[in-house]
Amino acid sequence: MKDILRQLEERRAAARMGGGERRIEAQHSKGKLTARERVELFLDEGSFEEFDTFVEHDCQDFGMADNKTPGDGVVTGWGTVNGRTVFLFAKDFTVLGGSLSRNHSKKINKVQDMALKMGAPIIGLFDAGGARIQEGVDALGGYGEVFSRNVKASGVIPQISIIMGPCAGGDVYSPAMTDFIFMVKDTSYMFVTGPDVVKTVTNEEVTAEELGGAKVHSSRTSVADGAWENDVVAMTQLRRLIDFLPSNNRADVPERPFFDDAERKEMSLDTLIPENPNMPYDMKELVVKFVDEGDFFEIQEDFAKNVITGFGRLEGRTVGVIANQPLVLAGVLDSDASRKAARFVRFCDCFSIPLVTFVDVPGFLPGTSQEYGGLIKHGAKLLYAYAEATVPKITVITRKAYGGAYVVMSSKHLRGDFNYAWPTAEIAVMGAKGAVEIIHRKDIGNDEKIAAHTKEYEERFLNPFVAAERGYIDEVIMPHSTRTRVARALALLKDKDLDNPWKKHDNIPL
Ligand code: HXC
Repeated sequence: MKDILRQLEERRAAARMGGGERRIEAQHSKGKLTARERVELFLDEGSFEEFDTFVEHDCQDFGMADNKTPGDGVVTGWGTVNGRTVFLFAKDFTVLGGSLSRNHSKKINKVQDMALKMGAPIIGLFDAGGARIQEGVDALGGYGEVFSRNVKASGVIPQISIIMGPCAGGDVYSPAMTDFIFMVKDTSYMFVTGPDVVKTVTNEEVTAEELGGAKVHSSRTSVADGAWENDVVAMTQLRRLIDFLPSNNRADVPERPFFDDAERKEMSLDTLIPENPNMPYDMKELVVKFVDEGDFFEIQEDFAKNVITGFGRLEGRTVGVIANQPLVLAGVLDSDASRKAARFVRFCDCFSIPLVTFVDVPGFLPGTSQEYGGLIKHGAKLLYAYAEATVPKITVITRKAYGGAYVVMSSKHLRGDFNYAWPTAEIAVMGAKGAVEIIHRKDIGNDEKIAAHTKEYEERFLNPFVAAERGYIDEVIMPHSTRTRVARALALLKDKDLDNPWKKHDNIPL
């Protein structure tokens, strides 16, 4: 018996060494942790329960029969984050570059299936070279099995991918189908084909960092939802994100102890809006002052900064915040901002996270580059996402709400539950200058007349009261009471029950 126990310990110890000391050292010298070190850091201490420690590949070609490592390049299992169950798989780059064999994919499939069955989030830590070349179509098929489970679980359990090393081929397509992708700066990159293939096919010379580094994907392509400094920060931030998310689409949002007063008045908000309507201000100041303890987890912080998206809490319960940012492009909606906000709204709606929208938007961005880039379709995504969302929807218009953007930004007309406006709100088809130049075109050149028309337009339309008189705004509220009003509304809406008609699935303008 003792021998058998010792044998198990020895086999476990061998598995823990992955690709061996030399490769572990190489991993560390690149500033990366090993798969197991990442898992230990991410989960609550001592909570990791591993599956399939001893699984090996069964490939016989290319000398692979003599090249087997227990675990076969991926560490899988489950554990807890602040007491809540999560499933995970972590690619082990020290074993054949974390490449995916048929048996490696079966290990991932097992945790995917288990996570879905148990209704718990699944996290993938990626650091891998794609399909195991020696296994050919078996490896490709293995990816197919992972992808199809990603799609099945989409909207049922949160799926999160963290890119912590080179990721190519199938190791970028699986993350692309998950809810969030985060990258680690300087050590991770993602591309379908790497710099060598790019050079061969297109003759372009490009580095891995330029082609698919964290900066490119978090600020330019929006493939990544954020970039973190290093592995340790990544695991800490991932824990923070998990704390905001419900476990599945039938679970309620997590409720955390909170140390902030829902009735807290923020008097400084009464002077947030500048006297001059063309002056910007920082919408993030409002968002941070609005959420519990100023704790705001931003999604896509470096992409389409004209709209802010992220998670916060009100009275300990998660809310999704969407806000136009007047500091960037005057808060205008363009294609990128529309796509970014639409995806966020849809994530929240999948997982019953109420939406709080702060509006200061001068409209959609005009111009050929936007129109040629498909602004109609991209803008429609946001309109569609808000209109289909059945979660509680609360909107606060702080200043401009012009034209189509007024309708799109969670207006009453799209089934908004509570639509508030600050006294500084201007709800109109467009700003005064544009409006006057269209409806009084004949007076252009006569400065006196134009000034009079502009004054008349401003007095008539650039306020919240025309909309409030019609019930499109439920109430005009004092800025300092925003947190209180929204908290009360959310408490009321906790048991909101609204369904869309049955359909196989919708057909959002992709
Ligand atoms: C088998 C692989 C491998 C792979 C890496 N290795 N990728 N083994 N199959 N796909 C092995 C290497 O042989 C090496 O083994 C070890 O992992 C580390 O790799 P290095 O190249 O030394 O590391 P590095 O210089 O850091 O480069 C990492 C890399 C590079 C950029 C990921 O290895 C690479 O380009 N790999 C191939 C990427 C790729 O084209 N994959 C197939 C994609 S197709 P030793 O024994 O020397 O340590 C795909 C299709 C999926 O995935 C379908 C999707 C729709």
